[in-house]
Amino acid sequence: MDYAEIAPMMGTLWSPLAAVTSQWQGRDNVQIAVAIAAASIVPDRPRVALQLYKTNLSHDMVLASGAFALNFLKSDQLDLIGDFGLVSGREKDKLAEVDKAAGTSGSPLLTDCFGYLDCRVINAMDGGDMTCFLADVLDGKTLAKGNPLWWRDARRKLPTEWMTRWDQKQSTEVETSRATMDNINRTVWQPS
Ligand SMILES: Cc1cc2nc3c(=O)[nH]c(=O)nc-3n(C[C@H](O)[C@H](O)[C@H](O)COP(=O)(O)O)c2cc1C
Repeated sequence: MDYAEIAPMMGTLWSPLAAVTSQWQGRDNVQIAVAIAAASIVPDRPRVALQLYKTNLSHDMVLASGAFALNFLKSDQLDLIGDFGLVSGREKDKLAEVDKAAGTSGSPLLTDCFGYLDCRVINAMDGGDMTCFLADVLDGKTLAKGNPLWWRDARRKLPTEWMTRWDQKQSTEVETSRATMDNINRTVWQPS
């Protein structure tokens, strides 16, 4: 199959950019994600599905804590893509200088963003290179007017140096995923 044949459809499946925050053993972290979907049709029982790659510190923190918050970015928050999505929490404390409040799930909530969904994990599916987390939305609020930031719009405005770093990071991660995506553990997930 030629990927170009399906790219116009596949490209529409990524969500708006969210800063995924987590907390485990007193430590806060954040990463960027676009692999997010609504996962409930019941208005008073909202759920989301979130895919996190196993190489990310956030993955291990969400797996351990069973919680995360999705803080969707405002259309002018391009800087946060580089600050949160091109550096790992293993290298620095990405939330040290960021205004935040504690959410119901224990995950930090960004006070300046388009809006947040504070979530508790209820199930997880191993995808080999990543884990797909299904979560109840415990709390949430839209904080800004307008629209959230989409990767397809943001990538055209980012500095060339960031896009070079993104391309390098992406090509390493694609190789890691290619090597691990078939190593799927089909054991049923149990809450810790
Ligand atoms: C535009 C963009 C979209 C991303 N989408 C995802 C995603 O959906 N899931 C994921 O696990 N990582 C995604 N990432 C990668 C993580 O944000 C990145 O690897 C981050 O450095 C991980 O940080 P951590 O190790 O502190 O958790 C994305 C990065 C960018 C820049």
